[in-house]
Amino acid sequence: MLALTGAGVSAESGVPTFRDGGNAAVWKGMPFTVISSGKMVQQDLPAVWEWFDYRRNLLRSLQPNAAHRELARWQETFPEFTLVTQNVDGLHQKAGSRNVIELHGNIWRARCVGCDSRFKSEAENRPDACPDCGELLRPDVVLFGELLPHGAFELAAQAAAECELCFVIGTSALVYPAASLPELAKAAGAFVCEINPEQTPLSSVCDEVLTGKAGEIVPMLCKS
Ligand code: APR
Repeated sequence: MLALTGAGVSAESGVPTFRDGGNAAVWKGMPFTVISSGKMVQQDLPAVWEWFDYRRNLLRSLQPNAAHRELARWQETFPEFTLVTQNVDGLHQKAGSRNVIELHGNIWRARCVGCDSRFKSEAENRPDACPDCGELLRPDVVLFGELLPHGAFELAAQAAAECELCFVIGTSALVYPAASLPELAKAAGAFVCEINPEQTPLSSVCDEVLTGKAGEIVPMLCKS
């Protein structure tokens, strides 16, 4: 089994999504695609940190919801279960999921622009410089115009090619290469099931589309 999650799986925990309802997030007049970009790290890293500290403060008090908890339970129930997420909020791990493949990084980590080392990073005491090489630290999140972390997509693609059952939960399926994973699974013969209150470009290729909220539907799927 493979489960791919997006911002929608965290919506019922209070995490704002990026696109649904047609409203793209905006920060200080800048569309999130601008402030959340590799270019902005070059131009104004303090502004990028300010945006991420704002989001971390939003996230700090939020708790996993029933969908996160159920997916963590599936990991205990099904020996061959892979959880891939586009989310950087860490709520899957907070719900108890292990070895989560984070395609877009994690908001609670910082990464060195010089030696690429990663460090746990809390908003209050965030070190400015890399303790190892002294270079600048940036959020360990994949920003627009940037490549995914090495190995993460390859691992996810392998799981997609080998899975028999693929769940796509709470993603608009607009951002690639993440959105190619269910297509990969489908092409390899897997049964693909989408869970989303809205139609997505993926809905037409799915074997099953369950229209509704992840926190309500996911806990109903497995009674064992
Ligand atoms: N349960 C399930 N799905 C939901 C829920 C819910 N309670 N609420 C909203 N959704 C769905 C929306 O209908 C939408 O299709 O979740 C999807 C959220 O889409 P986006 O906001 O585009 O988020 P995502 O697909 O994760 O974005 C992908 O884009 O912005 C970048 O890096 C960022 O990881 C992100 C990537």
